[in-house]
Amino acid sequence: MRIFRDADGVHVEAPAKVNLYLEVLGKRPDGYHELITIMQATDFCDEVIVAEAASGVSLAVEGAELPTGEGNLVVRAAKAFLDAHAPGRGARMRLVKRIPMGAGLGGGSSDAAATVVAIDRLYGLGISRTKMAAVGGKLGSDVNFFFNGGTALCRGRGEQVAGVYFPYRAAFHYVLLTPGTHVSTAEVYQNVGGIPLIKWMEHPHQPRERFEAHLEQTGEALLGHTQMIMALTMGDVAIVGARLKNRLEPVTLALYPELEPYKEALQAEGLAALMSGSGSSFFGLAPTREKAVEAASRLETRFPGKVRVLSGGGEPDYVWM
Ligand code: C5P
Repeated sequence: MRIFRDADGVHVEAPAKVNLYLEVLGKRPDGYHELITIMQATDFCDEVIVAEAASGVSLAVEGAELPTGEGNLVVRAAKAFLDAHAPGRGARMRLVKRIPMGAGLGGGSSDAAATVVAIDRLYGLGISRTKMAAVGGKLGSDVNFFFNGGTALCRGRGEQVAGVYFPYRAAFHYVLLTPGTHVSTAEVYQNVGGIPLIKWMEHPHQPRERFEAHLEQTGEALLGHTQMIMALTMGDVAIVGARLKNRLEPVTLALYPELEPYKEALQAEGLAALMSGSGSSFFGLAPTREKAVEAASRLETRFPGKVRVLSGGGEPDYVWM
């Protein structure tokens, strides 16, 4: 998250993320799904610019048709953060939108996090990450990841974030395909099975044989994220590629079968491919930035305007929360 201040106000970059790993542990009593996911921020960014205002919150959006009132997460983020930490102050905000929406790239959540960081800087509030996360967790499941950036392991609804420290900072390069289909995250979660860990925990007093059978079933799923962290630490593209996993991918593909060709096209380029978040974007992991650019230029003829090269993971922006 790059930050600078000029005559227009405080500028904060709001990066898109990809999910390299996403496992659903089960449905919780509050209706949300318990997750283990590994997210990585990329160099594909929106930008939020915030200037002082005597009172009230206003927003102008460039690059997309978006609501500029309460319907926009940026406005809700600004109001919630000002109410909690700078009551009586206002913000005049501009959002430069590049990241497609409903694409599984976390654009809206990233914009919300960038807004909070921008307002904190604008007024020199010095609010801790923990307090920012208390606001972010209420705005959306992915918001808190973006206070961290880099690569992080996220649990709970996704709002509990632990930065992953990589002593050897390998950069990863992706070819991103954004089909333009707006996927409803809520609809995808309604149709996900997941591993029934939560159900098990609600009924713990079961015979030992059933517990053993359950462990058999869930053991691999519960280890997957650890293996991915090790693969990312090694920086080995082939191993990371083999470990890519997203429990939501088959659900989204069943709901939106027209997305299948996007994944297949990345695989046909010889790339390990995965859907990000609840979709509709797919990314292919390339061995180098050059290879990603080559594959992207071939794919551009088939999917004009829907192809982009992203990099993530290499920047030293690890922050412990
Ligand atoms: O938190 P966010 O607004 O991003 O989530 C959108 C919807 O996705 C939620 O209303 C919920 O239906 C579903 N969801 C879920 N479990 C999660 C995250 C999201 O069921 N961990």
